[in-house]
Amino acid sequence: MFSRIAGTGSYLPKKTLTNNDLAEMVDTSHEWIVERTGIEKRHIAAKSETTCDLAEKAARLAMEMAGKTAADIDLIIVATTTPDLVFPSTACLLQSRLGSTNGSPAFDVQAVCTGFVYALGIADKFIKSGSHKCALVVGAETLSRIVDWTDRNTCVLFGDGAGAVILEASKEAGLLSTHLHADGHYADLLKVGAGLSKNSEILKQGNAFIEMRGNEVFRVAVKTLGRIVDETLAHNQLQKSDVNWLVPHQANIRIIKATAKKLKMSMDHVVVTVDEHGNTSSASIPLALDAAIRDSRIKRGELILLEGFGGGFTWGSALIRF
Ligand code: UT7
Repeated sequence: MFSRIAGTGSYLPKKTLTNNDLAEMVDTSHEWIVERTGIEKRHIAAKSETTCDLAEKAARLAMEMAGKTAADIDLIIVATTTPDLVFPSTACLLQSRLGSTNGSPAFDVQAVCTGFVYALGIADKFIKSGSHKCALVVGAETLSRIVDWTDRNTCVLFGDGAGAVILEASKEAGLLSTHLHADGHYADLLKVGAGLSKNSEILKQGNAFIEMRGNEVFRVAVKTLGRIVDETLAHNQLQKSDVNWLVPHQANIRIIKATAKKLKMSMDHVVVTVDEHGNTSSASIPLALDAAIRDSRIKRGELILLEGFGGGFTWGSALIRF
C-alpha cells in the first residue's frame, strides 16, 4: 500500500505588503530585499482572519480537486507554528469547520518551516500501515502575528498563507519516501523566545517575535539541504537527472538556487514562489506545489522532490511520483 496525491489547494490573504511599503516602516529598500532574498511582496492576513480560516480555504480547494467530501477524510493533520488557540488544535477546529462527523483523528504538527514535510511523512505512514485511507494534510500560518515589524532583519522575510494536499491510499507508488530530521542544538539560531511556560510575560505583553541569526541559519540550511538531496536519491536508488521538479521551502532564492545547483537542475524545473509570497513557513511547500500543479507545469507521472528546513533546526524531504 502506498499514498498518492489526489488533490491540492492553497489560499493567500487578499492584502499584500510590498518591499516599498516596508521601506516606509524600517530602514530597508526594495533593491536590498530582492538582491538578498528574492522576495518582492508578501500576503498579510486581515485582523479577523486566523490560521484556521486560511487552512479551511486551502483544504476545501484540495478536497474539490480530489473529489472528496469531509466524510471521505479519515485523518487530518495541520502543520502550523501559529495555531489559532493553545488548544484545541487547529486540526480539530478545521475538522469541525469542514463538517466532519466520522471521528477521524485530527492533530497539529509543529516543525516550523519543515512542518508540512513532517505532516506529509506522518500521514504517509498512517496510510502505508493500512489503518487510514484518505488524509487531509495542511500547512497554514499567520506568521505576521509573530513578526517584529520594527526589526528589518526579519520583518522583510515572512508572509501568511496556507496550502493543502489530499493523500489517498493507492496500489501504485505515489509518495516514494520521506526523510525527517532535527537537531535541537541549533534552537537558539531561529526562535520565538517566549511561550506559555517560559518567558510567558513577554507573550502576554504581545512581544513574542521571531528572532533569527540569519547568516548562520543560511549557512547551515544550504549545507543541510544539499545533504538531504543525496540521502533521498540514494534511498530510492535514483539519479539527480531522474527528478523532474524541485519544490523547495521558499525562504530565500539564494538557498533555492544552491539546492538546484546541487541537483544540477535548471531553474526552469524549480518551483519558485518566494518572490510573490515571502517565507510562509509550513505553508510554503504546499503553496508552491499547488501553484505548479494548477498551472499544469507538474504533470501526472513526474518525479517531484520536496525539501524543507526550519527552526529547531528541523529539515526533511519527500520524493513523490505525482
Ligand atoms: O525558513 C527558515 C529558514 N530561514 C532561512 O533559511 C533564512 C536564512 N537566512 C537568510 O535568508 C539571510 O541570511 C537573510 C536574508 C536573513 C539576510 O541576508 P544576508 O545576506 O545573510 O545578510 P546579513 O544578515 O549578513 O546582513 C548583511 C547586512 C547587515 O549590515 P552590516 O552589519 O553588514 O552593516 C545587516 O544589518 O545587511 C543588513 N540588513 C539589511 N539591510 C537592508 C539586514 N536586513 C536588512 C534589510 N534591509 N532588511
